[in-house]
This record gives sequence, structure tokens and C-alpha cells, in this order.
Amino acid sequence: MASSPEAKYTEETVLWVKRHTPKLMTFAVSRPEAYRFSAGQFSRLGFRDGEGFIWRAYSVVSAEYADTLEYFTVLIEGGPMSVKFAHMQAGDTILLDKTATGFLLPERFQDGRDLVMLCTGSGIAPFLSILEQPEIWQRFDRLALAHSVSRADELIFNDRIAALSEHPLVGEYFGKLTFQPVLTRDQTDGALCGKRLPALISDGTLAAAFGMAFTQADTRFMLCGNPDMVKDTFQALLDKGFAMHRNRIPGHILMENGF
Ligand SMILES: Cc1cc2nc3c(=O)[nH]c(=O)nc-3n(C[C@H](O)[C@H](O)[C@H](O)COP(=O)(O)OP(=O)(O)OC[C@H]3O[C@@H](n4cnc5c(N)ncnc54)[C@H](O)[C@@H]3O)c2cc1C
Ligand SMILES: NC(=O)c1ccc[n+]([C@@H]2O[C@H](COP(=O)([O-])OP(=O)(O)OC[C@H]3O[C@@H](n4cnc5c(N)ncnc54)[C@H](OP(=O)(O)O)[C@@H]3O)[C@@H](O)[C@H]2O)c1
Repeated sequence: MASSPEAKYTEETVLWVKRHTPKLMTFAVSRPEAYRFSAGQFSRLGFRDGEGFIWRAYSVVSAEYADTLEYFTVLIEGGPMSVKFAHMQAGDTILLDKTATGFLLPERFQDGRDLVMLCTGSGIAPFLSILEQPEIWQRFDRLALAHSVSRADELIFNDRIAALSEHPLVGEYFGKLTFQPVLTRDQTDGALCGKRLPALISDGTLAAAFGMAFTQADTRFMLCGNPDMVKDTFQALLDKGFAMHRNRIPGHILMENGF
């Protein structure tokens, strides 16, 4: 769906909405032909709201080559956008800012052999997109993803991650990936339980779970999720001798300041 050429946004159609738990939902919207993004970036989505608009940032879950744009959201009690999403249905109109942004881009790492992706809650969204890009599987020797949520019913992407083994573009590399769920307030088989990501880094549990030694030569980290987690995890990595990656001063850590 188009809007006037001078507008900064297009009007799109909500194609489907899936409610996984009372507070977790995924949905897809139509993708304008001209809409470009890199895996790891976020869109700005909006609604008309009274006389004005409401806009919020959402990481794209879809692959760069997908025909539609998928998103994952956590509904926040009383949050203005969450209220809109709680009532959203297929067929509704949603506004899409024409420009995608964000610097959580694995291709920014010029060196390193192992890519470690650490996230909480909705912070898994950019990594789901990144994992559908074949370049990333070809570029790194090993990929590791840890997703921290409070409770087991919030691990809604386990099947989708397992299904990457059958993916036409990345399935052949699937053996390179280790996926490690982390539950901070619950217990289930296969998850690390009862500790948050910074503690799991500091005490060596996470590296052991990935079967990796985290080293400055080989390991590159990407962080996304709760801003307190990003801050605390960054500090845990600094304490181990890793440094922020900047284009002019290469380091080991990229992070998104937002969920
Ligand atoms: C770069 C960026 C990318 C983002 N990507 C996503 C995404 O892919 N999916 C998504 O659900 N949200 C994402 N967010 C958050 C999103 O923009 C909204 O803030 C969120 O949907 C809540 O909107 P709201 O209006 O209901 O509440 P707000 O008034 O925006 O937020 C109220 C409070 O809820 C908490 N909160 C906000 N978002 C989250 C969240 N996702 N998980 C846990 N607590 C949260 C914060 O403490 C915040 O202060 C992103 C934010 C940024 C800055
Ligand atoms: N009232 C409550 O008890 C309660 C509980 C959870 C969430 N909420 C609210 O519900 C909304 C969505 O919550 P959510 O659970 O999807 O997102 P979230 O609060 O960001 O939690 C997601 C994951 O991030 C972890 N985390 C939080 N802070 C961290 C830090 N500093 N370092 C490392 N890990 C950290 C959480 O651990 P922990 O489980 O240890 O926090 C959890 O595993 C938010 O508005 C949140 O404030 C309320």
C-alpha cells in the first residue's frame, strides 16, 4: 500500500497476527517493494492516534529477501503501543517509516571466527533475521545464540531455530550453530536455569555450554535486549578483556541500545 511520495512512511496491511502467550505476539505486514533493510536493523512502526501518531522501534525478524515483514513484540502492561497491538488484527492498517536503521550488523566485524549472539526477551528478533542470511554462516566458523527469558513458556522460537536445519539457504551449515536457552525464574530441560547472562559469562558457564573458549582473537559478541542486560553484559565482557567494536577501532562487542 502506498502513501504520498513526500510522506516519510507508507501505509501497510497487517497480514497475520499470532498470539503465543498473553504477552508475546508475532505479526507480519506487507512489504513495500522499495523497503530495504539489513538483517539486524529495526523498523519504525506506527498508528494514527487521535490527532497525531504513535511510533515505536521494532527489529525485523524476517530475512532480507522475504516478501513480507515479520516482527516479534512483548506486550507491556499499560504501554501505549502495546495497547494498540493487543487489539490489532489481520487486515488492519499499520504505518511503516520508509527508512530502516540500526548498527547491530555482523558484517561490521572484519575479523574473528566465532559469533556469539546474546539476547533477552524481544532482543532475539534481530538474530532470527541474521540467522536466515547465508553470508553469516559462511563468514563465521561457529555461531552461538543464548536467549534469556524469565519463564519456559516464553521460549517460543525453539522450533523455528531447530527448523533452520531444513532451511534451503542455511540448512547445510546448521551444524555450526549452538542455541542455548536461559531461564532466570523457571526450570526446564536443556536450559541454563537460575542465573542471568552476565553471571553466566563471569563464571564461565556460558562458554562451557557453547563448547567455546571466549578469546579476543576468535570471539565476537552481539548483544540485544533489556538495556540493563546490555549494560551488565557489556561490563562482564569488559571485565574479561573484551572491548566495544567501532569501525575505526576494531573490537569484539556490538550492541543495540533498546529492546
Ligand atoms: C532499537 C529498538 C528496537 C526495539 N525492538 C523491539 C522489538 O523487536 N520488539 C519489541 O517488543 N519491542 C522492541 N522495542 C521496544 C518498542 O519500541 C516499544 O518500546 C515496546 O513495544 C513497548 O511500547 P509501549 O508503547 O507499549 O510501551 P513504552 O512506553 O514504549 O515502554 C514502557 C516500558 O516498557 C519496557 N519495555 C519496552 N519494550 C520492552 C520489551 N520489548 N521488552 C521488555 N520490556 C520492554 C521499558 O521499561 C519501557 O520503559 C525496541 C526498542 C528500540 C529502541
Ligand atoms: N512484575 C514482574 O514481576 C515482572 C516480571 C518480569 C517482567 N515484567 C515486566 O514485563 C515486561 C516484559 O518483560 P520481559 O520478561 O519480556 O522482559 P525483561 O524484563 O527484559 O526480561 C527478559 C529477560 O531479561 C533478563 N534480565 C533483566 N534484566 C537483566 C540484567 N540486568 N542482566 C541480565 N539479564 C536481565 C530477565 O531476567 P529476570 O527474570 O531475572 O528479570 C529475563 O530473563 C516489562 O515491562 C517488565 O518490566 C514484570
